[in-house]
Amino acid sequence: MAYYIGVDIGTSGTKTVLFDKLGNIIASALEEYPLYQPQNGYAEQDPADWWNAARNTIAAVMKHVSADEVKGIGLSGQMHGLVMLDEKGEVIRRSIIWCDQRTAAECAEITEKVGAERLIEITANPALTGFTASKILWVRNHEPENYARCRKILLPKDYIRYKLTGEFATEVSDASGMQLLDVPGRCWSEEVLEKLDIDIDLLGKVYESPDVTGTVTAEAAALTGLKEGTIVVGGAGDNAAAAVGTGVVEDGKAFTTIGTSGVVYAHSSAISIDPKGRVHTFCCAVPGAWHIMGVTQGAGLSLKWFRDNFCSAEKETAALMDTDPYVLMDKEAETVPIGADRLLYLPYLMGERTPHLDPDARGVFFGLSAVHGKKEMLRAVMEGVAFSLNDCKNIIGGMGVPVDDMMACGGGGRSPLWRQMLADLYGCPVKTVDSKEGPALGVAILAMVGAGEYASVAEACRAIIRTDKVQEPVAGNSEAYAPVYELYTKIYPALKENFAALQKL
Ligand code: XUL
Repeated sequence: MAYYIGVDIGTSGTKTVLFDKLGNIIASALEEYPLYQPQNGYAEQDPADWWNAARNTIAAVMKHVSADEVKGIGLSGQMHGLVMLDEKGEVIRRSIIWCDQRTAAECAEITEKVGAERLIEITANPALTGFTASKILWVRNHEPENYARCRKILLPKDYIRYKLTGEFATEVSDASGMQLLDVPGRCWSEEVLEKLDIDIDLLGKVYESPDVTGTVTAEAAALTGLKEGTIVVGGAGDNAAAAVGTGVVEDGKAFTTIGTSGVVYAHSSAISIDPKGRVHTFCCAVPGAWHIMGVTQGAGLSLKWFRDNFCSAEKETAALMDTDPYVLMDKEAETVPIGADRLLYLPYLMGERTPHLDPDARGVFFGLSAVHGKKEMLRAVMEGVAFSLNDCKNIIGGMGVPVDDMMACGGGGRSPLWRQMLADLYGCPVKTVDSKEGPALGVAILAMVGAGEYASVAEACRAIIRTDKVQEPVAGNSEAYAPVYELYTKIYPALKENFAALQKL
């Protein structure tokens, strides 16, 4: 029997899943690790934690099969994080990860050096604090001794590839988020690298996502139980991987994911770039195609923040009932009508990307009154996240990229209430797939294609992905949300200057 492994190096933990060639789950394992926030707006993780979690979870799933039967491995992961290695291949400093917001000055430096228009033409995006290039410049500007020691720069999942195979490599979907890739041309941009004075030798070789990038070394085999020589394919950034894992690999198809961040993602066989840079255009995991993606920085993160600070009762009850606190929180929020009794929430706990591109933005409860209690605040948090995702969907629609098929995934996609909010706001059905393993399944599918099990990503998805639940818009709900959403869109512009002032306090 042939089996495939998908490893997803996420922000809260690494999940490894072993699948058969029809995408059935044989075994899975998860290991969590900390996020360090040494200052407001900073976010770092230790690559050693990722590697420990990856090898432990791979070893855990390998107990269920013989090493000969695993025919390929795919890697997925949080995008944009900066991993710097010295000449011995040792990590130089903690990784500055995707949601870190410290690099506003370096973004200005990039825009000035490359030129705002040219930067969007080449990298398909404006300079962004979340992206890797500004993090590289930050280390060069603030920690010159670390920069001087740096010999290789990798993304989080590509560091795991290096540990598994010894290869310095990446693939187009994740590399698109470094701001150093020529996104239309699908190769490193010599022009951007030269203008930013970054040596191309620091970067790994770029592959398409289903390509074989290397094989498992004897050392990694001994640590994980994998067989030496097992192929490791390019894989994909977490969103491009989730697209494959939900079958969003053809025009007209899109998904919304609510994980730590929230994403609205639409497949596009032609490249389309927002000249205002409010949504990202990246290469996708289907060779020769792209995707457009809007990002809400604090989506699931908002609800987790609320749970961890205000929902200890739900946590205790959930433990007694052997259920998830989010299930109880969903039920509580459901008892509150649309609009949360005139309470609105802006989910900008970690700054924002779409539609405002503002690292200084922060979360807001607007309209808080003595009549409100926890359940109204909870509903407002969920609605605020849904409004922000609706902002993303509206911009993608405005770029002429058709969306007639919307999937929901991520932890938050499991909430029937959140899916209903999205269906009502988007005005279209929102579906789930029966596999809950979006990114891990997506990269396992890429490994199947790389190993020759299927001829193409689309063919593999047709054989493997099955739709599960369908949430239709409820009559009257769209109308009820309309004035609340309209007011929501006015709050950020009214506060913009004050967010900047807040950061200067
Ligand atoms: C995408 C992004 C996030 C991270 C973390 O641009 O920053 O989706 O990949 O999941």
